[in-house]
Amino acid sequence: MVKKIFSGVQPSGNLHLGNYLGAIKNFVDLQNQKNTECVYCIVDLHAITIKQEPKDLKKNIIETLATFVASGIDSKKSIIFNQSSVPAHAEGSWILSCVARMGWLNRMTQFKEKAGKDKEKASVGLYAYPVLMASDILLYDATHVPVGHDQKQHLELCRDIAQRFNSDFNAADFLKVPEPLIQKNFSRIMSLKDATKKMSKSDPSDLSRINLTDDRDLIISKIKKAKTDSKPMPSIDENLEKRPEAENLLGIYSSLSNQNLERSKKEFEGKNFSEFKRKLSDLLVDKISPISDEIKKLLNDKKYLDDILLEGSKKANEIAYKKIKEMKKLIGF
Ligand code: TYM
Repeated sequence: MVKKIFSGVQPSGNLHLGNYLGAIKNFVDLQNQKNTECVYCIVDLHAITIKQEPKDLKKNIIETLATFVASGIDSKKSIIFNQSSVPAHAEGSWILSCVARMGWLNRMTQFKEKAGKDKEKASVGLYAYPVLMASDILLYDATHVPVGHDQKQHLELCRDIAQRFNSDFNAADFLKVPEPLIQKNFSRIMSLKDATKKMSKSDPSDLSRINLTDDRDLIISKIKKAKTDSKPMPSIDENLEKRPEAENLLGIYSSLSNQNLERSKKEFEGKNFSEFKRKLSDLLVDKISPISDEIKKLLNDKKYLDDILLEGSKKANEIAYKKIKEMKKLIGF
C-alpha cells in the first residue's frame, strides 16, 4: 500500500530545533522511504490567524521553503507548496466548519494557550484553525501525518471531522481518516531555559531555542547557557521525570545522533554536564550548521525558490481541486 504523507509548517519566522526534530527531519526520512508520496505545505493561511506584517510574511514563506530544501526535502520527490496558492484549502475549511461542532473546537487546548487570558480578542481564525488543518489533510487523502506532540489533539479532531462528513453525506470512506505519526521519544523538544515549556518560536527569549539559522558560535553559547540541575549526568536506570532538563538535552542528543535514549544515558552516565554539553554542541554544530549555511545560499537564488513553489502549487492544485469538486457534488452544490 502507498503511504500518502501530508504535513505543514507555519511560516512565522524562527524555525527552530523543535520544528526540525519534531517534524522536518521526519519529512525527509519519509520522503526517502519506498512507497510513499509526500506533500509538504507552508501553511501561510494558518500564519495569519495571528497578525503578521505583510513584508515579513512574504520573507518568512521563502525562508521556510529554504529551510525545507536545506534540510533535505527534495522537490523532485515531494510536492512542496504554499497553502494560499491552492484555493481548495480555504473552501474545504468552510465546508468542514459546517460539519465540525462547537463543542469539539471548545476542547482544543492550543487555542486556549494561544488566545491567553483575553479570549474575546483572539481572531475567529485562531479558533477555527484546526478545521483548516483538517481541510489541508483531507484534501490529499493523506494516510499518515507526521507532526510533533503539540498537534496530536488537532489530528484527533481531523479524524472526527472526516468520520462525521462521511456519515452525514452517506459516503463511507470518502474522506480518508489519517493516522498521526508522532515519534515516541523526541516529539516534544523543550525550551533550553525552562524544560517544562515546549521550545517555541513565540518565546520572547532567543536563548530558549536553537534556530535553524543560528551560526556555530551562537549554538555553542546557547548550549553553554542552557539550564541544567546540579547533579551529575543521570545513570542508565534513573527515572528522568524529575530531571526535565537532563531528559530534554539527552533527548536532543539522541534524536540528532539517531540513537535511543538508553544508549545516550549510558554514554554519559555519571559525567559532568559540562562534558556532555561540549559533545552536544559539537553534534548540533555538525548537524545544524550545514543547514543554516545552505539556507543562506538558497536565499540568494530567489528564482530557484519561486520556481519550486510554482511547480509544487500546480501539482497540489490538481489533487486538491479534484477532491473539492467531489466534495461539492456530495453536498448537493
Ligand atoms: P507549527 O508551525 O507550529 O510547527 C510545525 C511542526 O513542528 C512541530 N513542533 C515541535 N515538535 C517538537 N517539539 C517542539 N518544541 C515543537 N514545536 C513545533 C509541530 O508539532 C509541527 O509538526 N498546525 C500546524 C501546522 C499545520 C499542519 C497542517 C500540520 C497546518 N496544517 C496539516 C500537519 C498537517 C502548526 O501550527 O505547526
